[in-house]
Order: sequence, then structure tokens, then C-alpha cells
Amino acid sequence: MPTIHVTDRGGNAHTLKADNGLTLMEPLRELDQGIEALCGGMCSCATCHVFIAPEWFRKLPAVHSDELELLESTENFRAGESRLACQVKVSDALDGIVLTVAPEE
Ligand code: FES
Repeated sequence: MPTIHVTDRGGNAHTLKADNGLTLMEPLRELDQGIEALCGGMCSCATCHVFIAPEWFRKLPAVHSDELELLESTENFRAGESRLACQVKVSDALDGIVLTVAPEE
């Protein structure tokens, strides 16, 4: 069960565990100051926007064009860091990943 290091919208650090096969959306929406994930993972709301630490961002599967389009439409888009949590599958390869919840739009 991979470990995820998260800084929430309030600047608080959390260490979470998530089952393989889920997406990062599931554990992050359980946090009080985590993500909203309003569309439930349909890649259409961007309320699950997170900044992945660059050293981890490089290890993730490539961003799909529809995800990138949505991310680029946000005010806080950061190339090389921004991902939608609902589009990132949890796996052992992500054990120890470091990320920060993006500011509310
Ligand atoms: S939950 Fe809506 S885009 Fe990820």
C-alpha cells in the first residue's frame, strides 16, 4: 500500500496510505482541506488539481491531451507539476510520492 505525502490547502502536511488501483483522488478528497473532486473523476472539473513534486512528476505516465487541456485552463497551472489527481493511478511505483493540493480557483 503506497505512502503519499500531501500538503493540504491549509499548508498542513499529511502522510496517507492508498490502495493500488485507486486514483490519487480517493485519499485526497477525504482530507478536510484536500480536493473537492466535484465531477467524481470524469476529468471535467479540475477541482482535483494538485502539484506533484518535479522529481515525482517525471516518473508518472504522460498526461493525456484532455487532462492537459483542462489543467492549462486553470489559473494556477504549473508546467512540470500540475496533474489532476483523478487521472493518476496509485501503484507501488508511486510509493513516497510528494504533492501539494493546488489553491482553490
Ligand atoms: S475530479 Fe473532476 S477533474 Fe478530477
